[in-house]
Amino acid sequence: MKKLYIETLGCAMNVRDSEHMIAELNQKEPYELTERVEEADLIIINTCSVREKPVSKLFSEIGIFRKYKKASAKIGVTGCTASHLGRDIIKRAPIVDFVLGARNVSKLSTVIDKRHAVEVDIDHDDSSYAFGEYRTNPFKAMVNISMGCDKSCTYCIVPATRGDEISIPTDLIVGEIKKAVATGAKEIMLLGQNVNNYGKYFSSDQEKCNFTELLKRVSRINGLERIRFTSPHPFHMGDEFLTEFASNPKICKQIHVPLQSGSTSILKEMKRGYSKEWFINRCQKIRELCPEATISTDIIVGFPGESDKDFADTMDVLEQVRFEQLFSFKYSPRPLTAAAEYSNQIPNEIASARLTKLQARHTEIVDEIMNAQMDREHMVYFDELKPNGRVSGRSDDGKLFFVKGSEDLLGKIERVKVIKTSRGALDGELLMVNV
Ligand code: SAH
Ligand code: SF4
Ligand code: F3S
Repeated sequence: MKKLYIETLGCAMNVRDSEHMIAELNQKEPYELTERVEEADLIIINTCSVREKPVSKLFSEIGIFRKYKKASAKIGVTGCTASHLGRDIIKRAPIVDFVLGARNVSKLSTVIDKRHAVEVDIDHDDSSYAFGEYRTNPFKAMVNISMGCDKSCTYCIVPATRGDEISIPTDLIVGEIKKAVATGAKEIMLLGQNVNNYGKYFSSDQEKCNFTELLKRVSRINGLERIRFTSPHPFHMGDEFLTEFASNPKICKQIHVPLQSGSTSILKEMKRGYSKEWFINRCQKIRELCPEATISTDIIVGFPGESDKDFADTMDVLEQVRFEQLFSFKYSPRPLTAAAEYSNQIPNEIASARLTKLQARHTEIVDEIMNAQMDREHMVYFDELKPNGRVSGRSDDGKLFFVKGSEDLLGKIERVKVIKTSRGALDGELLMVNV
């Protein structure tokens, strides 16, 4: 059997695209996955373009793969950098055999046999989101509900790499989830750049269905026990959606509310469409409707023109919301974005100092939150066997748990008591309710 080495960078959508690519390949000819480049017949680098660093790393990585790969092995570059740079990738690195954009996954089997094929258009049709089945973890499934993005946040390259937003037909989504449930998935993750904008851009006639209605429909699927989704946009977090989030027992009580900046004037420059006050109000609403929910966020520091006062607003939102999880980045100017042209770029030392301060304070907050977990009980869905007789899983609110156990636990949801806390994960013991 041929061997495939696939490296996946970037967000959950790229992880799902990699699964789709494996499914596409397998429909033509079965491939076995390998973690060793030197034995692969096909090497795929599924790239991310959201910040500059991973893009420059791509070319050094291609150089390394060139040294170690089998002479006959093909190299494909896929994902958002493929969409963004297109044929330039082959010009710069002719060793690359094909380039396949993030919106072109379904064309993989057509480019694979053509030397120097490039497929990067960001148009779409209904056939391009129906794929064969493949998932990395048998106990949970990722399901795309929309592609692309209809926003134009001034720092972000994603609309240029993933194209216009389109909502996938509801029946297709429900059908895909039913199939995943029938083959062992109790948990699904609904994916899109703005999931709670779902239903605005159907490409064909279908009944109206917004994100809240989609959640209701999906939650009626028998055998499905847990629903997660990422990423929702704060602008679309109306009361109807938050009430459904809080009251639907199948929806996991973990929500990503990407802040980006706590300063209303920077948010305006970013074209995020909400203010500091709206953001805090939405988080308060989540805490009020659903006190057990955890809130995660993304923050960019050093956006052009960000003053000390603007940054103080970001720190203030951190204090007020006390995010359970934070993904924070230094602003990285990207081609094809408006903010890259702004003249008031922030010096690197200032952005670095702000990032350090933000992360240090957040670490203190997380330590307080995690230490307070001692002796608490959670329902944990076990999905991975670990070395040394341990099994891992996630609580409903997204915390990573480890317990002693065997593969018998896999695919089960059990009550677990926290016996040891740390910053990134919790050790627990089973309370043996259902076992
Ligand atoms: N659709 C999602 C974001 C997808 S990009 C949303 O609106 O929240 C993932 C994250 O990368 C963003 O939330 C942002 O924090 C970060 N990001 C995007 N562009 C960036 C840039 N130019 N520099 C630094 N971080 C960036
Ligand atoms: Fe990028 Fe903004 Fe779209 Fe998110 S909503 S993908 S940050 S443009
Ligand atoms: Fe990166 Fe593309 Fe996702 S740029 S964050 S892989 S949408």
